[in-house]
Amino acid sequence: MTALRLIIVGLGARSKFWLRVIADQPGVTLLAMADPDRAARDRAQSEWPGVPVFRSLAEAVQSVDADAVLLSTPPSGRHDDIETACGAGLAILAEKPLANSVAEAARFVELCEATDTPLMVGLNFRYLPVTIALRELFSGPLGRPSFARFSYERWRDGHLPHINKYPLTMGQPMLWEQSIHHFDLMRYVYDSEPVEIFAKTFNPPWSMYADDANVSALITFDNGVIVNYQGTWAANWTQPQFTWRSECANGIAFQRDQFGALGYALRDDQSVTDVPLPDYRQWIDDAALLLRRFVLALKGEIALECTGRDHLKSLQMVQASIISSQRGEAIDPAGLELSSQKGGRPEVLVPPATQRTSKWQ
Ligand SMILES: NC(=O)c1ccc[n+]([C@@H]2O[C@H](COP(=O)([O-])OP(=O)(O)OC[C@H]3O[C@@H](n4cnc5c(N)ncnc54)[C@H](O)[C@@H]3O)[C@@H](O)[C@H]2O)c1
Repeated sequence: MTALRLIIVGLGARSKFWLRVIADQPGVTLLAMADPDRAARDRAQSEWPGVPVFRSLAEAVQSVDADAVLLSTPPSGRHDDIETACGAGLAILAEKPLANSVAEAARFVELCEATDTPLMVGLNFRYLPVTIALRELFSGPLGRPSFARFSYERWRDGHLPHINKYPLTMGQPMLWEQSIHHFDLMRYVYDSEPVEIFAKTFNPPWSMYADDANVSALITFDNGVIVNYQGTWAANWTQPQFTWRSECANGIAFQRDQFGALGYALRDDQSVTDVPLPDYRQWIDDAALLLRRFVLALKGEIALECTGRDHLKSLQMVQASIISSQRGEAIDPAGLELSSQKGGRPEVLVPPATQRTSKWQ
């Protein structure tokens, strides 16, 4: 079997991890890189000599014959790349969030479906050992979860040289960039869809972000689980804290670190019992597993995970939180319009690629 030939688009902060993961991934060959920014291109070229680098995906596909593209660009302005990928018959692995609005993300999903283009979203937190173990806890003696407290408190210095800068000026950065992971995790771990969100977003006086860095939300899922959520990038202590405590029929599941520290206690236990987790390299092993699952899905060995269509439900939670905060009322995320084409046919921007499935399988 030949290796999956991949182009990476966007050579910023996130790509540094992806490039390491791709280099170590058996069955994947990095064919080209692309970024409109000269400094980003030069940096990537010096670190990965031998891999051609282009100004855009459109330019890259003129020169190399690839099977898939990894979009590691900011979520705003992906239209051209998605259109190019669909037109060139490239499967897409896109970083989260797919877009900064449900309507735009829905257009991308519709375009991919209309052109038979596999679209996976990079929800790497689903692939953490702690997430997999937490999900399994609920089918053990703890019993089913009923309510939870999910708290993510972080002083995120958005000016640090090694992290992206666009969240400093975008609308609702905490929700679109960070809570999207948390909302997706809740849906995944509780295996349930949200039916109501009552949220308040705000920006504390010391926040360096132009728009709200804080989200407080009460989220109800269709299996009855109610989550009390607090997320902030403007916590006023540089030491981050993470707590995800799920109250279940017979005890609690207790995650005390975003990347590990999982435990549980039955109601009368005097202390929390730690759940052993495998060794894990932060930002590497989760992405590597995600990429492996992408490859397996393209080979037809498993169903595609974290599909664009599924991701719309997490994006609806983000948008419902914004609307709820504006209106001061609870919102049903599933009730939000998925497309700007109300009731109409999906807008197909490019013709379906010919023989798209025959290139690599
Ligand atoms: N899953 C995670 O844990 C995680 C972590 C960090 C970032 N991200 C996501 O990764 C994506 C990229 O974030 P980042 O931190 O690398 O941002 P960044 O600003 O550091 O880098 C983005 C790069 O994309 C380039 N770019 C912009 N438009 C482009 C286009 N059309 N074609 C090619 N290149 C283009 C920019 O020039 C820049 O070099 C975002 O969606 C972000 O949310 C995910």
